[in-house]
Amino acid sequence: MSQLVRFGVSVEKTLLEKFDRLIKEKNYVNRSEALRDLIRRELVEKHWQGTDEIAGALTIIYNHHKRELLNKIIEVQHEFQKVIISTTHIHLDHDNCMEIIAVKGNPSRVKKLSESLTSIKGVKHGVLSIAGTGSDLK
Ligand code: NI
Repeated sequence: MSQLVRFGVSVEKTLLEKFDRLIKEKNYVNRSEALRDLIRRELVEKHWQGTDEIAGALTIIYNHHKRELLNKIIEVQHEFQKVIISTTHIHLDHDNCMEIIAVKGNPSRVKKLSESLTSIKGVKHGVLSIAGTGSDLK
């Protein structure tokens, strides 16, 4: 672990109050830990834009009764099979399904997969979470 450094930050009172409410909701033990996570998240985001390989998870939610939608989702996943490690399918309720797709590989290819799936008509929700590959993060 690298050396801890303290630094002062000036911030508007109202902004800090909002931040404190947010970190309380997210169960952070203190501001420092919340701030460290924010910094790491920004660094991951910055890093994966200029790297060869990323890892993460893509979550989509859709209604499985739409037959054509299901075919399209499967078709896209086969097209991008080189960056898909695994897919977990969860039946949320009578109508809705959630798929968590673990991804690893070329950043632009992963992004393209994410866009291709979330833009399918009938996919209600789609979010790509990039975790980085871990090698660059302390
Ligand atoms: Ni299902």
